[in-house]
Amino acid sequence: MLNLPTASALRVMILGVNGQVGWQLQQQGLNLKTLGRFPVEMIPIARQGTPLTLDLTDPWAIQMLIQTYQPQILINGAAYTAVDRAESEPELAIKINGTAPGILAEELDKIGGLLIHYSTDYVFDGQSTTPYLETDQTNPINVYGQSKRIGEQAIQASTNNYLILRTSWVYDSRGKNFLLTMGQLAQTQPQLKVVKDQIGSPTSAPLIARITYQILGQLLNTPDWQTLTGLYHLTAQGFTSWYGFAEKIVAHLAESSSHPLAALIPIPTRDYPTAAQRPAFSRLNCQKLQKTFGITLPAWEREFGIVWQTWLQSRPT
Ligand SMILES: NC(=O)c1ccc[n+]([C@@H]2O[C@H](COP(=O)([O-])OP(=O)(O)OC[C@H]3O[C@@H](n4cnc5c(N)ncnc54)[C@H](OP(=O)(O)O)[C@@H]3O)[C@@H](O)[C@H]2O)c1
Repeated sequence: MLNLPTASALRVMILGVNGQVGWQLQQQGLNLKTLGRFPVEMIPIARQGTPLTLDLTDPWAIQMLIQTYQPQILINGAAYTAVDRAESEPELAIKINGTAPGILAEELDKIGGLLIHYSTDYVFDGQSTTPYLETDQTNPINVYGQSKRIGEQAIQASTNNYLILRTSWVYDSRGKNFLLTMGQLAQTQPQLKVVKDQIGSPTSAPLIARITYQILGQLLNTPDWQTLTGLYHLTAQGFTSWYGFAEKIVAHLAESSSHPLAALIPIPTRDYPTAAQRPAFSRLNCQKLQKTFGITLPAWEREFGIVWQTWLQSRPT
């Protein structure tokens, strides 16, 4: 059951609005007059700095927030995303990525609310040679991936009112991400060694937010909306390696910078040891989302160009 408003606005709560995806959800939400056929009231929430705050490590606070504000839609952009650090603090990662989503789902189910949650390509082990389907066996090879998989299962055990969107290699013109880290290093280092044998699809936070609202609007306009809930893969189309992604960044930088830029050197994963192991192949097959909602996902290079322009405009001159 979805408890949709009859006379008032649809209350859409967004968690994690200081993060990459959460911030885009909030920004794009400001321009939304309606979602489906409903006027919208947005409730932005961060761990700190917003009028309402929430720490996902506090189960009681999660319950109180949902019971008090009764959102019809909750979009969870908050997560523990420090992949390497998760190896040394698995309990915290599991609390935030595993336990909290389950509590969100339980509480929303009680009030007929819909949960939209994000998950990751890192639920897979990367041994496949073809893009992963939603139905493929998961087998996370690091703590972050395990914690996100626990979150998926906790949601699925608690409610049918959910959309889980697995995405990958998220970046934007703000936040902590590969684009900004490489962009900065490329301007300050003579050379940069970048892993070439991990393959995936860079996906911009603006794209994720845009598609989230698009499919949510469609779901809200569909009388048998239950047929649309579930697990979907959502990434930009096409793929590259981290080295290929870095090449793209440096090529764009070269067009707009007079500084000498770092020379890029491709290396294998074994020459770049990290605390967490990462899947070698993490392409996600997004046909289910595209067919179900009649959406064509754009090429990652196109979205990169849009984010790049935003970054150029926001850069101090
Ligand atoms: N980043 C990627 O490459 C990637 C790849 C695949 C999937 N995903 C998934 O996509 C979603 C969005 O990721 P993102 O890149 O936007 O993440 P992000 O930029 O790291 O933002 C995560 C947000 O979660 C908040 N958060 C962390 N711990 C919290 C807690 N205990 N209570 C409340 N808030 C907390 C952080 O708050 P503070 O600002 O206070 O730290 C931060 O604003 C996540 O579900 C992630 O797992 C991300």
